[in-house]
Amino acid sequence: MVRKKIGLIGGGNIGATLAHLILQRDLGDVVLVDIAEGVTQGKALDLCQASAIDDRAGSIIGTQDYGALKGADAVVVTAGVPRKPGMSRDDLLQINSDIIRTIGQQIKQHCPGAFVVVVTNPLDVMVWLMQQSSGLPTHRVLGMAGILDSGRFRYFLATALGVAVQDVKTFVLGGHGDTMVALPRYTTVAGIPLQEWIDQGKLSSEQLNDIIKRTQNGGAEIVNLMKTGSAYYAPASAALQMVESYLFDQKRILPCAAWLSGEYSINNMYAGVPVMIGAGGAEKVIELDLNADEKQQFTSSVQTVQKLIDDLKTLGF
Ligand code: NAI
Ligand code: 2OP
Repeated sequence: MVRKKIGLIGGGNIGATLAHLILQRDLGDVVLVDIAEGVTQGKALDLCQASAIDDRAGSIIGTQDYGALKGADAVVVTAGVPRKPGMSRDDLLQINSDIIRTIGQQIKQHCPGAFVVVVTNPLDVMVWLMQQSSGLPTHRVLGMAGILDSGRFRYFLATALGVAVQDVKTFVLGGHGDTMVALPRYTTVAGIPLQEWIDQGKLSSEQLNDIIKRTQNGGAEIVNLMKTGSAYYAPASAALQMVESYLFDQKRILPCAAWLSGEYSINNMYAGVPVMIGAGGAEKVIELDLNADEKQQFTSSVQTVQKLIDDLKTLGF
């Protein structure tokens, strides 16, 4: 079997963690691209030596040359800069947009057949810009956020209920920010609707509300603890889940930022929704029957994303 080639653009915390996971699971060969000269080559060499110790066959190169991505099957984009003191939200938006636009053009040139997962923040806007600048079909450009947000929600629920996290299934939809929409009505624990656990007194409504707030604030909670940098282990695992579903045609239904053309009454933009990922990329958007309250929350979350896209257009993108 021909080995898969996986490009990772951005070799910082998430990119390097992804590289380690891919090599440990022997999913393919990795090309790690970053502007930071030396660091990427050093990380690649370190990871080659880890593979030797782990008896893994995958190879990795670290480079500044986008040409090395030629023919990549999948690409995960984590390149960007974090917000620094004195930098406005618009400054950050401008800088990361410049980066994503350049990367989109490079992907178009070197690996136009790839499945692309964008992780860089602000996520829902960056995935839109990636699709626009790369010109790749919308079903092959997705954003990672919902799996991470749902993972956080699942973990907090499992801890509160004292059950195995594997038994908690849920969706968190909408934009990746504090307007994200957790869906208790579409949450089950060992197949039993969450509402039944609440009715049986195993979780109070107040506890559930606190858990939803903590989920919405999940990224900031970690940033506040770490002081520099943001979460990277869970984001890397989440992005990898999307790549695996594509490479191995798993047809998993995962919450991701996907292009909507009429689904959820939204046209021509990205939003976090359940989507089936297989060899065809985003093969199908799954439409949940949202009630009035859920619909209102979802619409307001999507409007927040639309506002950022409008800001981006004002900045000339
Ligand atoms: P990091 O700062 O550790 O790594 C970013 C890397 O991008 C750095 O190594 C930097 O040199 C590189 N870079 C900057 N400009 C580049 C360019 N033009 N070409 C190639 N590489 C370039 O950041 P980390 O922790 O890996 O996070 C990456 C991004 O993911 C951030 O924007 C972060 O906010 C976002 N994020 C998104 C999440 C989500 O759910 N979508 C969750 C967590 C983080
Ligand atoms: C997170 O949710 C900061 O978006 C990042 O961890």
